Amino acid sequence: LSNSVRNLPIGVFDSGIGGLTVLAALRRQLPHESFFYLGDTARLPYGTKTSATVERYALQAVAELVRRGVKAIVVACNTASAAALPALLKQYPELPIIGVIEPGAAAAVAATRTGRIAILATEGTVRGGAYQRAIIQRLPHAKVSSVAATLFVALAEEGWISGEVAMLTAGTYLAPLFADAAAAPDVLVLGCTHFPPLADVIRAVAGERVQIVDSAQTTALALHELLNARDLAANAGAARLAFAVTDGEERFARVGASFLGMVIEASAVERVDLSAR
Ligand code: DGL
Repeated sequence: LSNSVRNLPIGVFDSGIGGLTVLAALRRQLPHESFFYLGDTARLPYGTKTSATVERYALQAVAELVRRGVKAIVVACNTASAAALPALLKQYPELPIIGVIEPGAAAAVAATRTGRIAILATEGTVRGGAYQRAIIQRLPHAKVSSVAATLFVALAEEGWISGEVAMLTAGTYLAPLFADAAAAPDVLVLGCTHFPPLADVIRAVAGERVQIVDSAQTTALALHELLNARDLAANAGAARLAFAVTDGEERFARVGASFLGMVIEASAVERVDLSAR
């Protein structure tokens, strides 16, 4: 395998800015790798759309990443991972592609002691049941419940990650899970890339005894292993970082900075049209 392939970027795709929480973990785990991040901001949210539509969008996004030249793909969106991963793997059998659901399920199973796991996700992810299946496959006696916490997406984008509104919203979504103490989960999975910024509020409502896991770190570890297994790890040169969105470069840069944990210059964010793919 030539070094030019090893030094290609890794394509990271999300419906918008949430995947930047995954990108942050990928960069920490793989500091020598270059990344090309694509956010389909013109068509988000994916979480409320049907899986057929999300699958079509994801195929278009990955076609764009492939056209630009990437050595691997991370689907950094739970909704797209749930709806489109099988179609993506079928379309690109040679390309290493990973989603965030399997790593998230693995993290949940590793953390639970009681086998009672609750998933907080978008409507689309909950409806598809992908987390449920991935957890049961690893831990057949697990009791998995799910909550579609749609408003968390808007709160995170608005930066309302603490305070009264965030607390009330978290309290309303979580109350049914903890109504019966004997049946309460001991692990909460942040099954949406927008939710990690709300982890403190969710912890305040759920209590210290509940473990909160998200898929960012385990996805980064899974990608690391995959790159090593395929002899694809970058071996030299400076790590590059580039961004493209389908709309709203300025908003992406402004709101995205808090998700990524670093400044994004709007002038460095490219605009692409995926409907042409
Ligand atoms: N990125 C999506 C996810 O992880 C959340 C935002 C959306 O609905 O598009 O599920």
